[in-house]
Amino acid sequence: MEKQISKAVISRLPRYYRYLGELMEDGVERISSNELSQRMHVTASQIRQDLNNFGGFGQQGYGYNVKFLYTEIAKILGIDRQHNLIIIGAGNLGQAIANYANFEKRGFVIKGMFDINPRLIGLVVRGIEIRGVEDLEQFIIENEVQMAALTIPKTKAPEIADRVIRAGVKGIWNFAHVDLNVPDDVVVENVHLSESLMRLCYRVCSMQDGKSGEKGAS
Ligand code: NAI
Repeated sequence: MEKQISKAVISRLPRYYRYLGELMEDGVERISSNELSQRMHVTASQIRQDLNNFGGFGQQGYGYNVKFLYTEIAKILGIDRQHNLIIIGAGNLGQAIANYANFEKRGFVIKGMFDINPRLIGLVVRGIEIRGVEDLEQFIIENEVQMAALTIPKTKAPEIADRVIRAGVKGIWNFAHVDLNVPDDVVVENVHLSESLMRLCYRVCSMQDGKSGEKGAS
């Protein structure tokens, strides 16, 4: 059986992946945990602990092979293959996500967008057509859609989540400000920019008030 990797480690992998990608772009072939630690502002022991979870990618005196580690982390995250995604709610946020071309580089292909506003239906955003929600289930099945971003009002999100799940969606990228109840074989990743902003606010205020606000990135 595969070793269970803690959620905390998994949550740090995208950041390692980003740094390793930058190193590759700079032509760096290998890096020690100390060097990576300086770049990422994470302790070298944390890096060693995290990366040891995956079977010792590093070698004593050699460091980490950047490309190998990058590829292995991609495999662990599952971003070494294509994932089909839809966006439900083609308003400000939905369109902003659709306009961000870089998701495709990570293997996330936005197959379609859906809305109920007749003025939006039929418009095309970066090559992606906005459709009505009548065809939602059929579209999900035909396009083997695994993930759905919900950028709709919170009152509408539970019903739409049920529909996409019944049609086979396994992951919900939830921007609506509501907690969704989903079956055990479905996962939800909540993204709440306002919560992030409140955490930033707390840290700024803590520093100003002379409390022990932690510095650096979180
Ligand atoms: P918006 O009003 O520009 O877009 C919402 C779209 O959803 C509209 O085009 C509307 O026609 C559509 N819609 C409504 N009911 C629908 C349904 N049943 N099926 C399909 N489409 C439907 O709003 P905006 O600014 O894009 O925000 C969207 C949602 O995301 C809101 O609930 C907002 O509170 C939330 N939000 C969340 C953020 C976060 O960080 N989690 C940040 C910004 C907004």
